[in-house]
Amino acid sequence: MRLRNVKNAKEKLEASPFFIPNPKEFKGQWQNVFSKQSVEKNPIHLEIGAGKGQFLIAMAKKNPDMNFIGIEKYESVLVRAIEKVNQTDLKNIVFICVDAMELREIFDHEIATIYLNFSDPWPKSRHAKRRLTSPIFLNIYDHVFKNNPMIIQKTDNLDLFSYSLETLSQHGYCFLQVSLHLQDTQIANVETEYEQKFKEKGIKINYLKACKK
Ligand SMILES: C[S@@+](CC[C@H](N)C(=O)[O-])C[C@H]1O[C@@H](n2cnc3c(N)ncnc32)[C@H](O)[C@@H]1O
Repeated sequence: MRLRNVKNAKEKLEASPFFIPNPKEFKGQWQNVFSKQSVEKNPIHLEIGAGKGQFLIAMAKKNPDMNFIGIEKYESVLVRAIEKVNQTDLKNIVFICVDAMELREIFDHEIATIYLNFSDPWPKSRHAKRRLTSPIFLNIYDHVFKNNPMIIQKTDNLDLFSYSLETLSQHGYCFLQVSLHLQDTQIANVETEYEQKFKEKGIKINYLKACKK
């Protein structure tokens, strides 16, 4: 994600009802943030690295009974998602600005699904622990997930994809769906910003849906 410094990004975030400035205060009570609050009927889905928000906002429009939280570590990127979502009257989506390393302090067994869309691949092996499917992050997600964890990953990067298949299976996940060419399947799909760019260039998208009992 190319970073441009956005003037008054912090003020713009804090002025929005879709932005939660103090996420640690909601640990264990995220359901209360949304207008539909049933733990069973209104599961909370998380996108880590939500970027400019296109995917999550489309998901929230399409699934009014589900709740959505977007995590993005840069204010200057998140502000673009906030500008988009400010133009809606959605009641089932919020965004927070944190690094995924902090998720254990923010969620306590509350999340149904984590989406990892076009996460940074961190190709050098000395940076492997920064990949969002490294064992460090999979351990953090164990504290974030409610029962029946579900991770859905899309990436153009085959090395990151094979790494994820390996770390997820070593961490006890089973694969419900795996594709090396998502566009060639019938899998229901909401496109992200990065995905659209890759598709235009004819690049194949890798997809996995993994769950843990
Ligand atoms: C390549 S972009 C993809 C954006 C979007 N998901 C898409 O598919 O269009 C990856 C995004 O993840 C964010 N990100 C990377 N590592 C993160 C982390 N540890 N915690 C939170 N956000 C992160 C980056 O700032 C960037 O906006």
